[in-house]
Amino acid sequence: MFIVLLKTFHYLAILFAGGVLVGGGLIHAVFTRANQVPDINVSKVLKILGYLGLGALIILWITGIFLSNVIYGGFAINTAFTIKIIAAAFLLIISFIVNIHVYNSSKNQQPPNKSIMKMATMTGRGLILIVLVSAAIAFN
Ligand code: HEM
Repeated sequence: MFIVLLKTFHYLAILFAGGVLVGGGLIHAVFTRANQVPDINVSKVLKILGYLGLGALIILWITGIFLSNVIYGGFAINTAFTIKIIAAAFLLIISFIVNIHVYNSSKNQQPPNKSIMKMATMTGRGLILIVLVSAAIAFN
């Protein structure tokens, strides 16, 4: 039962993390293409999406750490799994950096730096793809 609960939360968090990346990326892309800066309400949405993404990643780590230990007795599962957690660690770091950056810029009433946001979104997408492919290989 505990494992079922952990897996359900692991999968739910994947849904949220992916949704944030796709949704947030889309909003950024639409505004960039229109050569506009998101207005105050859209900025609020983006900020909340950022927090949701970070929250989802933290839940992925907590449930993932439990799953590894309860099912496999530790983190030495296979190479693909090692790649998966390294990519997941980078995702977590990027999410922290972006959230701190967005928090600071909104405190200073400035829009977030475009290049930082673009780099983070693109790297985030690549990393989540790496995590998913390596999860598929690891638990094949
Ligand atoms: C961005 C972060 C993450 C994503 C997108 C992700 C994605 C996934 C996916 C799709 C699966 C299902 C694989 C399958 O059953 O074929 C899975 C399972 C698993 N994940 Fe994650 N994961 C993430 C983070 C983590 C972390 C940080 C850990 C460990 C520290 C972890 C540990 C596990 C374990 C042990 C399973 C296997 C459970 C089982 O045997 O059914 N995950 N993950």
